[in-house]
Amino acid sequence: MRPWNTFVEGDNLDVLRAMAAAGDQVDLVYVDPPYNTGNDFAYRDDFRDEGGRPASRHAAWAAMMRPRLEAARDLLRVTGAIFVSIDDHEAARLRLLMDEVFGEECFLAQVVVNLNPKGRQLGRGFATSHEYLLVYARDPRRTVLDATSAEAVDERDFPLTEEGTGRRYRHLPLRNTNKKFNPATAPTLHFPVWGDPSDGRVATAPFAGAAEVRPVFGDGRPAVWRWSRPLIDERPDDLVCRVVRGRTGERVDVFQKDWLHREGGRRKKLTTIWLAEEVGSTDTAVAELKALVGHVFESPKPTGLVRRVLATMPDDAVVLDFFAGSGTTGHAVALQNAADGGSRTCVSVNSAEPTRVGSNAHAAGLLTVADITRARLRAVDATLGGGLEERRLH
Ligand SMILES: C[S@@+](CC[C@H](N)C(=O)[O-])C[C@H]1O[C@@H](n2cnc3c(N)ncnc32)[C@H](O)[C@@H]1O
Repeated sequence: MRPWNTFVEGDNLDVLRAMAAAGDQVDLVYVDPPYNTGNDFAYRDDFRDEGGRPASRHAAWAAMMRPRLEAARDLLRVTGAIFVSIDDHEAARLRLLMDEVFGEECFLAQVVVNLNPKGRQLGRGFATSHEYLLVYARDPRRTVLDATSAEAVDERDFPLTEEGTGRRYRHLPLRNTNKKFNPATAPTLHFPVWGDPSDGRVATAPFAGAAEVRPVFGDGRPAVWRWSRPLIDERPDDLVCRVVRGRTGERVDVFQKDWLHREGGRRKKLTTIWLAEEVGSTDTAVAELKALVGHVFESPKPTGLVRRVLATMPDDAVVLDFFAGSGTTGHAVALQNAADGGSRTCVSVNSAEPTRVGSNAHAAGLLTVADITRARLRAVDATLGGGLEERRLH
Protein backbone atom coordinates (compact mmCIF):
# COMPACT_ATOMS: atom_id res chain seq x y z
CA MET A 1 0.00 0.00 0.00
CA ARG A 2 1.22 3.52 -0.83
CA PRO A 3 1.96 5.79 2.15
CA TRP A 4 -0.50 8.65 2.59
CA ASN A 5 2.32 11.14 2.04
CA THR A 6 5.31 11.37 -0.29
CA PHE A 7 7.65 14.35 -0.33
CA VAL A 8 9.96 15.08 -3.24
CA GLU A 9 12.58 17.81 -2.90
CA GLY A 10 13.47 19.45 -6.19
CA ASP A 11 12.39 21.95 -8.82
CA ASN A 12 8.81 21.07 -9.58
CA LEU A 13 9.26 21.16 -13.37
CA ASP A 14 11.90 18.43 -13.15
CA VAL A 15 9.74 16.42 -10.72
CA LEU A 16 6.60 16.71 -12.88
CA ARG A 17 8.53 15.59 -15.95
CA ALA A 18 10.07 12.69 -14.04
CA MET A 19 6.60 11.64 -12.86
CA ALA A 20 5.30 11.74 -16.44
CA ALA A 21 8.28 9.66 -17.61
CA ALA A 22 7.48 7.10 -14.88
CA GLY A 23 3.85 6.91 -16.13
CA ASP A 24 2.40 8.42 -12.94
CA GLN A 25 -1.13 9.84 -13.02
CA VAL A 26 -3.02 11.92 -10.49
CA ASP A 27 -6.69 12.69 -9.81
CA LEU A 28 -6.42 16.07 -8.16
CA VAL A 29 -3.89 18.88 -8.26
CA TYR A 30 -3.99 21.63 -5.65
CA VAL A 31 -1.34 24.33 -5.93
CA ASP A 32 -0.64 27.66 -4.27
CA PRO A 33 2.13 29.16 -6.42
CA PRO A 34 4.12 32.29 -5.54
CA TYR A 35 1.65 35.17 -6.01
CA ASN A 36 4.24 37.47 -7.63
CA THR A 37 3.84 40.13 -4.95
CA GLY A 38 7.31 41.44 -5.66
CA ASN A 39 8.92 39.58 -2.76
CA ASP A 40 7.98 35.98 -3.32
CA PHE A 41 9.01 35.31 -6.90
CA ALA A 42 12.62 35.79 -7.90
CA TYR A 43 12.75 37.62 -11.22
CA ARG A 44 14.73 35.54 -13.62
CA ASP A 45 16.83 37.12 -16.38
CA ASP A 46 16.40 34.12 -18.61
CA PHE A 47 12.74 34.97 -19.33
CA ARG A 48 12.81 37.10 -22.47
CA ASP A 49 9.99 38.46 -24.58
CA GLU A 50 9.67 37.75 -28.31
CA GLY A 51 12.06 40.59 -29.17
CA GLY A 52 14.70 39.17 -26.86
CA ARG A 53 14.20 41.88 -24.19
CA PRO A 54 13.97 40.83 -20.53
CA ALA A 55 10.32 39.96 -19.88
CA SER A 56 8.08 42.05 -17.59
CA ARG A 57 7.49 40.77 -14.09
CA HIS A 58 4.06 39.42 -15.13
CA ALA A 59 5.38 37.82 -18.31
CA ALA A 60 8.23 36.23 -16.36
CA TRP A 61 5.73 34.80 -13.87
CA ALA A 62 3.50 33.43 -16.64
CA ALA A 63 6.57 31.98 -18.38
CA MET A 64 7.45 30.19 -15.13
CA MET A 65 3.90 28.89 -14.67
CA ARG A 66 3.05 27.78 -18.21
CA PRO A 67 5.31 24.71 -18.55
CA ARG A 68 4.42 23.65 -15.00
CA LEU A 69 0.69 23.83 -15.67
CA GLU A 70 1.18 21.97 -18.95
CA ALA A 71 3.15 19.25 -17.18
CA ALA A 72 0.43 19.05 -14.48
CA ARG A 73 -2.28 18.77 -17.16
CA ASP A 74 -0.42 15.85 -18.72
CA LEU A 75 -0.35 14.04 -15.36
CA LEU A 76 -4.07 14.54 -14.67
CA ARG A 77 -6.43 11.65 -15.36
CA VAL A 78 -9.31 12.55 -17.74
CA THR A 79 -11.60 12.35 -14.70
CA GLY A 80 -9.39 14.71 -12.70
CA ALA A 81 -9.43 18.38 -11.73
CA ILE A 82 -7.03 21.15 -10.75
CA PHE A 83 -7.48 23.91 -8.14
CA VAL A 84 -5.06 26.86 -8.12
CA SER A 85 -4.93 29.51 -5.37
CA ILE A 86 -4.14 33.04 -6.53
CA ASP A 87 -4.66 36.66 -5.47
CA ASP A 88 -5.24 39.92 -7.35
CA HIS A 89 -1.61 40.20 -8.50
CA GLU A 90 -1.94 37.46 -11.11
CA ALA A 91 -5.60 36.31 -11.02
CA ALA A 92 -6.43 37.78 -14.43
CA ARG A 93 -3.33 36.41 -16.14
CA LEU A 94 -3.64 33.03 -14.51
CA ARG A 95 -7.25 32.75 -15.71
CA LEU A 96 -6.17 33.38 -19.31
CA LEU A 97 -3.21 31.04 -18.97
CA MET A 98 -5.42 28.26 -17.58
CA ASP A 99 -7.90 28.86 -20.43
CA GLU A 100 -5.04 28.31 -22.86
CA VAL A 101 -3.49 25.30 -21.14
CA PHE A 102 -6.68 23.47 -20.09
CA GLY A 103 -9.24 24.97 -22.51
CA GLU A 104 -11.93 27.54 -21.73
CA GLU A 105 -14.56 24.83 -21.74
CA CYS A 106 -12.79 23.14 -18.82
CA PHE A 107 -13.29 26.14 -16.51
CA LEU A 108 -15.51 25.16 -13.56
CA ALA A 109 -15.31 28.06 -11.11
CA GLN A 110 -13.44 31.05 -9.78
CA VAL A 111 -14.07 30.70 -6.05
CA VAL A 112 -13.66 33.67 -3.72
CA VAL A 113 -11.87 32.56 -0.57
CA ASN A 114 -12.21 34.86 2.43
CA LEU A 115 -8.84 34.04 4.02
CA ASN A 116 -8.32 37.37 5.78
CA PRO A 117 -11.69 38.30 7.30
CA LYS A 118 -10.42 41.51 8.93
CA GLY A 119 -8.98 42.66 5.62
CA ARG A 120 -5.43 43.69 4.84
CA GLN A 121 -4.66 46.73 7.00
CA LEU A 122 -1.30 47.63 5.45
CA GLY A 123 -1.05 50.35 2.82
CA ARG A 124 -3.75 52.54 1.30
CA GLY A 125 -7.04 51.67 -0.33
CA PHE A 126 -9.34 48.74 0.24
CA ALA A 127 -8.77 46.22 3.02
CA THR A 128 -8.62 43.15 0.75
CA SER A 129 -10.09 40.19 2.58
CA HIS A 130 -10.20 37.53 -0.12
CA GLU A 131 -8.28 35.69 -2.76
CA TYR A 132 -9.31 33.15 -5.40
CA LEU A 133 -9.29 29.50 -6.27
CA LEU A 134 -9.45 28.75 -10.01
CA VAL A 135 -10.99 25.35 -10.71
CA TYR A 136 -10.62 23.51 -14.04
CA ALA A 137 -11.55 19.99 -15.05
CA ARG A 138 -9.24 17.96 -17.26
CA ASP A 139 -12.41 17.10 -19.21
CA PRO A 140 -15.70 18.62 -17.95
CA ARG A 141 -17.80 15.77 -19.43
CA ARG A 142 -15.82 13.06 -17.67
CA THR A 143 -14.71 14.69 -14.44
CA VAL A 144 -15.69 12.96 -11.20
CA LEU A 145 -15.51 16.27 -9.32
CA ASP A 146 -18.67 16.66 -7.25
CA ALA A 147 -19.19 20.30 -6.29
CA THR A 148 -21.38 19.51 -3.31
CA SER A 149 -20.60 19.18 0.33
CA ALA A 150 -22.17 17.41 3.28
CA GLU A 151 -20.21 19.64 5.61
CA ALA A 152 -21.81 22.79 4.17
CA VAL A 153 -25.07 21.87 5.90
CA ASP A 154 -25.38 24.11 8.93
CA GLU A 155 -26.23 21.93 11.94
CA ARG A 156 -27.82 24.96 13.61
CA ASP A 157 -30.57 24.67 10.99
CA PHE A 158 -31.66 21.44 12.75
CA PRO A 159 -32.65 22.65 16.24
CA LEU A 160 -34.79 19.67 17.39
CA THR A 161 -33.55 16.42 18.93
CA GLU A 162 -35.45 13.11 18.98
CA GLU A 163 -35.83 11.69 22.46
CA GLY A 164 -34.01 8.41 22.96
CA THR A 165 -31.95 8.43 19.73
CA GLY A 166 -30.54 11.98 19.93
CA ARG A 167 -31.05 12.38 16.17
CA ARG A 168 -31.28 16.04 15.11
CA TYR A 169 -34.11 17.28 12.90
CA ARG A 170 -36.17 20.29 11.95
CA HIS A 171 -39.81 20.82 11.07
CA LEU A 172 -40.63 21.63 7.46
CA PRO A 173 -44.24 22.43 6.54
CA LEU A 174 -45.74 19.52 4.62
CA ARG A 175 -47.71 21.97 2.55
CA ASN A 176 -46.00 23.41 -0.48
CA THR A 177 -45.29 27.07 0.33
CA ASN A 178 -44.62 27.93 -3.33
CA LYS A 179 -47.72 29.74 -4.62
CA LYS A 180 -47.17 28.27 -8.10
CA PHE A 181 -48.43 24.98 -6.67
CA ASN A 182 -52.12 25.08 -5.76
CA PRO A 183 -55.22 22.90 -6.27
CA ALA A 184 -55.53 24.21 -9.86
CA THR A 185 -51.94 23.38 -10.90
CA ALA A 186 -51.44 20.21 -8.77
CA PRO A 187 -54.93 18.75 -8.07
CA THR A 188 -53.67 15.29 -6.97
CA LEU A 189 -51.74 16.88 -4.08
CA HIS A 190 -54.80 18.59 -2.61
CA PHE A 191 -56.44 16.10 -0.25
CA PRO A 192 -57.29 15.95 3.47
CA VAL A 193 -55.06 14.17 5.97
CA TRP A 194 -55.89 13.36 9.61
CA GLY A 195 -53.73 14.27 12.56
CA ASP A 196 -53.75 14.30 16.35
CA PRO A 197 -51.67 17.15 17.84
CA SER A 198 -51.66 15.48 21.30
CA ASP A 199 -49.37 12.65 20.13
CA GLY A 200 -48.38 14.00 16.68
CA ARG A 201 -49.75 11.02 14.71
CA VAL A 202 -50.60 11.61 11.02
CA ALA A 203 -52.52 9.35 8.57
CA THR A 204 -54.32 9.60 5.22
CA ALA A 205 -57.50 8.06 6.74
CA PRO A 206 -59.52 9.16 9.80
CA PHE A 207 -58.70 7.64 13.22
CA ALA A 208 -60.00 8.18 16.77
CA GLY A 209 -59.10 11.61 18.15
CA ALA A 210 -57.87 12.90 14.78
CA ALA A 211 -58.75 16.25 13.23
CA GLU A 212 -59.06 16.70 9.47
CA VAL A 213 -56.27 18.91 8.07
CA ARG A 214 -56.28 20.48 4.62
CA PRO A 215 -53.29 22.33 3.17
CA VAL A 216 -53.76 26.12 3.30
CA PHE A 217 -51.52 29.14 2.71
CA GLY A 218 -50.95 31.62 5.54
CA ASP A 219 -53.85 33.75 4.29
CA GLY A 220 -56.24 30.77 4.43
CA ARG A 221 -56.39 30.11 0.66
CA PRO A 222 -56.21 26.43 -0.40
CA ALA A 223 -52.71 25.00 -1.00
CA VAL A 224 -51.33 21.52 -1.79
CA TRP A 225 -49.07 19.04 0.03
CA ARG A 226 -45.47 18.29 -1.03
CA TRP A 227 -45.97 14.56 -0.48
CA SER A 228 -48.39 12.29 -2.33
CA ARG A 229 -50.88 10.05 -0.48
CA PRO A 230 -48.73 6.86 -0.99
CA LEU A 231 -45.61 8.64 0.35
CA ILE A 232 -47.49 9.74 3.49
CA ASP A 233 -48.69 6.13 3.98
CA GLU A 234 -45.12 4.88 3.56
CA ARG A 235 -43.42 7.34 5.97
CA PRO A 236 -45.93 8.37 8.67
CA ASP A 237 -43.14 8.42 11.30
CA ASP A 238 -41.41 11.23 9.42
CA LEU A 239 -44.50 13.43 9.85
CA VAL A 240 -45.88 15.19 12.89
CA CYS A 241 -49.18 16.97 13.61
CA ARG A 242 -48.93 20.18 15.69
CA VAL A 243 -51.03 23.15 16.71
CA VAL A 244 -49.63 26.33 15.17
CA ARG A 245 -50.49 29.98 15.64
CA GLY A 246 -51.00 31.63 12.27
CA ARG A 247 -52.30 34.95 10.98
CA THR A 248 -55.85 33.59 11.22
CA GLY A 249 -55.43 32.26 14.80
CA GLU A 250 -54.62 28.75 16.04
CA ARG A 251 -54.90 25.83 13.62
CA VAL A 252 -53.71 22.24 13.32
CA ASP A 253 -51.01 21.62 10.68
CA VAL A 254 -48.74 18.82 9.51
CA PHE A 255 -44.93 19.00 9.33
CA GLN A 256 -42.20 16.81 7.93
CA LYS A 257 -39.42 15.80 10.33
CA ASP A 258 -36.41 16.66 8.18
CA TRP A 259 -33.46 14.70 9.59
CA LEU A 260 -29.86 15.92 9.69
CA HIS A 261 -27.69 13.40 7.82
CA ARG A 262 -24.11 13.94 8.91
CA GLU A 263 -22.57 11.49 6.42
CA GLY A 264 -23.54 11.00 2.82
CA GLY A 265 -27.21 11.63 2.26
CA ARG A 266 -27.91 15.31 2.36
CA ARG A 267 -25.47 17.31 0.27
CA LYS A 268 -25.57 20.98 -0.57
CA LYS A 269 -24.14 22.54 -3.73
CA LEU A 270 -20.95 24.42 -2.87
CA THR A 271 -21.29 28.12 -3.51
CA THR A 272 -18.41 30.11 -5.01
CA ILE A 273 -17.76 32.14 -1.85
CA TRP A 274 -15.92 30.24 0.88
CA LEU A 275 -15.91 32.01 4.23
CA ALA A 276 -13.06 31.96 6.75
CA GLU A 277 -15.50 30.66 9.36
CA GLU A 278 -16.05 27.61 7.13
CA VAL A 279 -12.55 26.88 5.79
CA GLY A 280 -10.22 28.73 8.16
CA SER A 281 -8.09 31.84 7.65
CA THR A 282 -4.41 32.65 7.23
CA ASP A 283 -4.33 33.26 11.02
CA THR A 284 -5.78 29.83 11.83
CA ALA A 285 -3.38 28.30 9.29
CA VAL A 286 -0.39 29.88 11.07
CA ALA A 287 -1.72 28.48 14.37
CA GLU A 288 -2.12 24.98 12.87
CA LEU A 289 1.47 25.01 11.64
CA LYS A 290 2.72 26.48 14.92
CA ALA A 291 1.12 23.64 16.89
CA LEU A 292 2.95 21.06 14.76
CA VAL A 293 6.38 22.56 13.95
CA GLY A 294 6.42 26.22 15.01
CA HIS A 295 5.86 29.62 13.40
CA VAL A 296 8.20 28.81 10.52
CA PHE A 297 6.26 29.88 7.40
CA GLU A 298 4.54 33.20 6.71
CA SER A 299 1.52 32.41 4.57
CA PRO A 300 0.38 28.82 4.86
CA LYS A 301 -3.12 27.83 3.76
CA PRO A 302 -5.60 26.50 6.33
CA THR A 303 -6.11 22.72 6.15
CA GLY A 304 -9.88 23.42 6.09
CA LEU A 305 -9.55 25.01 2.66
CA VAL A 306 -7.70 22.02 1.22
CA ARG A 307 -10.05 19.58 2.97
CA ARG A 308 -13.00 21.21 1.24
CA VAL A 309 -11.16 20.79 -2.08
CA LEU A 310 -10.42 17.13 -1.25
CA ALA A 311 -14.08 16.51 -0.41
CA THR A 312 -15.07 17.28 -4.01
CA MET A 313 -13.17 14.20 -5.21
CA PRO A 314 -13.38 10.46 -4.38
CA ASP A 315 -11.81 9.38 -1.08
CA ASP A 316 -9.08 7.34 -2.81
CA ALA A 317 -7.84 10.29 -4.90
CA VAL A 318 -4.17 10.60 -5.77
CA VAL A 319 -3.37 14.22 -4.92
CA LEU A 320 -0.46 16.37 -6.10
CA ASP A 321 0.79 19.70 -4.72
CA PHE A 322 3.93 20.87 -6.51
CA PHE A 323 4.24 24.20 -4.63
CA ALA A 324 3.95 22.50 -1.25
CA GLY A 325 5.47 25.17 1.03
CA SER A 326 4.75 24.18 4.62
CA GLY A 327 3.02 20.93 3.54
CA THR A 328 -0.61 21.94 4.18
CA THR A 329 -1.97 19.67 1.44
CA GLY A 330 -0.26 16.56 2.83
CA HIS A 331 -1.53 17.47 6.30
CA ALA A 332 -5.09 17.96 4.98
CA VAL A 333 -4.96 14.58 3.19
CA ALA A 334 -3.97 12.81 6.43
CA LEU A 335 -6.68 14.66 8.41
CA GLN A 336 -9.32 13.81 5.82
CA ASN A 337 -8.28 10.12 5.66
CA ALA A 338 -8.32 9.94 9.46
CA ALA A 339 -11.78 11.53 9.53
CA ASP A 340 -13.53 9.47 6.84
CA GLY A 341 -11.45 6.31 6.51
CA GLY A 342 -10.36 7.32 3.00
CA SER A 343 -7.20 6.10 1.25
CA ARG A 344 -6.09 9.30 -0.46
CA THR A 345 -2.38 9.63 -1.20
CA CYS A 346 -0.52 12.86 -1.71
CA VAL A 347 2.70 13.79 -3.48
CA SER A 348 4.13 17.11 -2.23
CA VAL A 349 6.97 18.82 -4.07
CA ASN A 350 9.08 21.79 -2.99
CA SER A 351 12.46 23.12 -4.02
CA ALA A 352 15.37 23.59 -1.62
CA GLU A 353 14.78 27.35 -1.64
CA PRO A 354 16.83 28.79 1.25
CA THR A 355 14.94 30.25 4.19
CA ARG A 356 15.78 33.84 5.11
CA VAL A 357 18.67 34.28 7.53
CA GLY A 358 17.13 35.63 10.75
CA SER A 359 13.74 34.01 10.13
CA ASN A 360 12.16 31.66 12.68
CA ALA A 361 12.66 28.76 10.28
CA HIS A 362 16.37 29.48 9.85
CA ALA A 363 16.81 29.88 13.61
CA ALA A 364 15.11 26.50 14.08
CA GLY A 365 17.65 24.86 11.76
CA LEU A 366 15.24 24.63 8.82
CA LEU A 367 17.62 26.03 6.21
CA THR A 368 15.41 25.43 3.16
CA VAL A 369 11.65 25.46 2.51
CA ALA A 370 12.00 21.74 1.71
CA ASP A 371 13.21 21.28 5.30
CA ILE A 372 9.97 22.94 6.50
CA THR A 373 7.79 20.71 4.29
CA ARG A 374 9.62 17.61 5.54
CA ALA A 375 9.36 18.68 9.18
CA ARG A 376 5.60 19.14 8.94
CA LEU A 377 4.96 15.93 7.03
CA ARG A 378 7.09 13.98 9.54
CA ALA A 379 5.03 15.51 12.37
CA VAL A 380 1.82 14.63 10.49
CA ASP A 381 2.98 11.01 10.17
CA ALA A 382 3.95 10.91 13.84
CA THR A 383 0.56 12.23 15.00
CA LEU A 384 -1.93 10.93 12.42
CA GLY A 385 -0.02 8.05 10.81
CA GLY A 386 -0.31 6.96 7.18
CA GLY A 387 3.42 6.88 6.45
CA LEU A 388 5.81 9.26 4.70
CA GLU A 389 8.17 8.53 1.83
CA GLU A 390 10.94 11.08 1.21
CA ARG A 391 12.77 11.55 -2.08
CA ARG A 392 15.13 14.06 -3.66
CA LEU A 393 15.48 14.97 -7.32
CA HIS A 394 18.46 17.17 -8.05
C1 LIG B 1 2.87 30.18 -1.65
S1 LIG B 1 3.95 28.96 -1.19
C2 LIG B 1 2.91 27.55 -0.88
C3 LIG B 1 2.34 27.53 0.50
C4 LIG B 1 1.55 26.30 0.83
N1 LIG B 1 0.32 26.22 0.13
C5 LIG B 1 1.28 26.20 2.32
O1 LIG B 1 0.15 26.10 2.75
O2 LIG B 1 2.25 26.24 3.08
C6 LIG B 1 4.77 28.53 -2.67
C7 LIG B 1 5.93 27.56 -2.50
O3 LIG B 1 6.42 27.17 -3.78
C8 LIG B 1 7.82 26.91 -3.66
N2 LIG B 1 8.40 26.99 -5.02
C9 LIG B 1 8.55 28.10 -5.78
N3 LIG B 1 9.07 27.77 -6.99
C10 LIG B 1 9.25 26.42 -6.98
C11 LIG B 1 9.75 25.48 -7.93
N4 LIG B 1 10.16 25.88 -9.14
N5 LIG B 1 9.78 24.18 -7.59
C12 LIG B 1 9.35 23.77 -6.37
N6 LIG B 1 8.87 24.61 -5.43
C13 LIG B 1 8.82 25.92 -5.73
C14 LIG B 1 8.32 27.97 -2.71
O4 LIG B 1 9.48 27.52 -2.03
C15 LIG B 1 7.11 28.12 -1.75
O5 LIG B 1 7.32 27.33 -0.62
